[in-house]
Amino acid sequence: MNAPVDQASLSEASYPLIHRSLPRLFLSLIRNPLDALPPEIFSQPVLFTRVTSALTVYLADPALIHEALVKNANCLGKGENVRRALGPALGQGLLTADGPHWKWQRQSVAGAFRHDKLLDLQPAMISIAERTRDRWLAQGAGRLDIGHEMMRTTFDIIVETMMSGGHGIDVERVERSITDYLKASGWTFALGVIGAPEWTPHPGRRKAKSATAFLRESLASVVATRRLEPVERHDLVSMLLSATDPETGRRMNDEEVIDNLMTFITAGHETTALGLAWTMHLLARHPDCERKMLDEIETVTEGGPLLAEHVAKLVYTKQVFSEAMRLYPPAPIITRTALEEFTLGPYRIPRDTVFFIPIYAVHRHSLIWEEPDRFDPDRFAPQAVKSRHRYAYMPFGAGPRVCIGNAFALMEAVAILAVLMRQFKLDNVKHGSPKPLMKVTLRPGEPLYMNVSER
Ligand code: HEM
Repeated sequence: MNAPVDQASLSEASYPLIHRSLPRLFLSLIRNPLDALPPEIFSQPVLFTRVTSALTVYLADPALIHEALVKNANCLGKGENVRRALGPALGQGLLTADGPHWKWQRQSVAGAFRHDKLLDLQPAMISIAERTRDRWLAQGAGRLDIGHEMMRTTFDIIVETMMSGGHGIDVERVERSITDYLKASGWTFALGVIGAPEWTPHPGRRKAKSATAFLRESLASVVATRRLEPVERHDLVSMLLSATDPETGRRMNDEEVIDNLMTFITAGHETTALGLAWTMHLLARHPDCERKMLDEIETVTEGGPLLAEHVAKLVYTKQVFSEAMRLYPPAPIITRTALEEFTLGPYRIPRDTVFFIPIYAVHRHSLIWEEPDRFDPDRFAPQAVKSRHRYAYMPFGAGPRVCIGNAFALMEAVAILAVLMRQFKLDNVKHGSPKPLMKVTLRPGEPLYMNVSER
């Protein structure tokens, strides 16, 4: 896609402004923010609108996304939307902080995500996937809520690899609490858009508050235990406890460590689990792709158990997961606010402009993809990837705020698929695909039940 208006006019008059009905926008934000996306953004590069006073931009052109998120990253902050939606749970942790406070936190934990560190974590990822396999074998599988099963598996992985086991956190209650918290997110967005004060009562608010209290208390006890009884392993918790801000020389207090543990536990398992659940659903609908993936797994493992060294060789399996995340990106919309005026392609962007980067729409854009709604893992064959703009596909975001757990997520997803799919056949209980529902992350509108039987 090319920038749509010629460079000569940088005035506001040149914005392709669309009108949005505030009451309709408000209602769709509450129900499903995906429905609040202007339909034109699936076929046009960029749209501008004015909802209340702030200028709002929907950006779907990969070249403009690159210019905004990468080249002008310094002009953008996470903004009010993010702070209102996630601040009460995640405080000023890595996902929600801006400026120097974000930077020193990112530098403090970057070491945990270095390639060599991640390779060391692969055996743990495989053995936790095998734990799920053994649980399914023991119960004779049957009809399972596959989203829930994947949440459990990826939760165990994040807690084992990043928190040395998590010291007895109640998994089931954590999962319920995250769902309760996210359920109210539509209201938080909608009330933010009309500028209502944060204390405005709304459905689900009390449940979300007690969910946050439970989650933060569980992690406070992990931090207290670790301060008293340090462990040998240099895991994420130790990194956070020993991190020092290079500018001020100060360490993180307990609240700040908890902000980050909350961030890593939630961002680090829910997204991958949703990506996997959608992948399993799509594989059941595309037996030819499933066959090709199973053949690859058999060839790479030579029929033996999956070993750490096999994971990087499962190229088609990774393509399948990538294609599922194209159709159902776990983080479907990211947002930013302009901290200062800057120029974006042919446009002058005033301070306080709100940006929506609708990853979901970019991934199904008619100017980028042929037959955008068709599932086809060959789109991620190396040659096909090279022929596309780098930011035509961005499930992990872009620029300095790109997902820090990107490589971790791909490794664990491939390992989980390889362990489970070769042993079990998964069939969808219902015909058709559930409607995707955005609650910060992209969930199936109804639980994805699948019949699971041993191959
Ligand atoms: C398939 C799985 C995942 C997806 C689709 C995903 C997606 C994303 C996206 C889109 C962002 C950028 C948000 C923005 O720009 O506003 C992000 C940031 C982040 N992700 Fe992930 N993520 C995944 C897995 C993980 C994992 C496994 C971890 C941790 C182990 C993780 C931790 C984080 C953190 C801490 C940030 C904030 C980074 C920063 O701002 O510096 N994510 N993720």
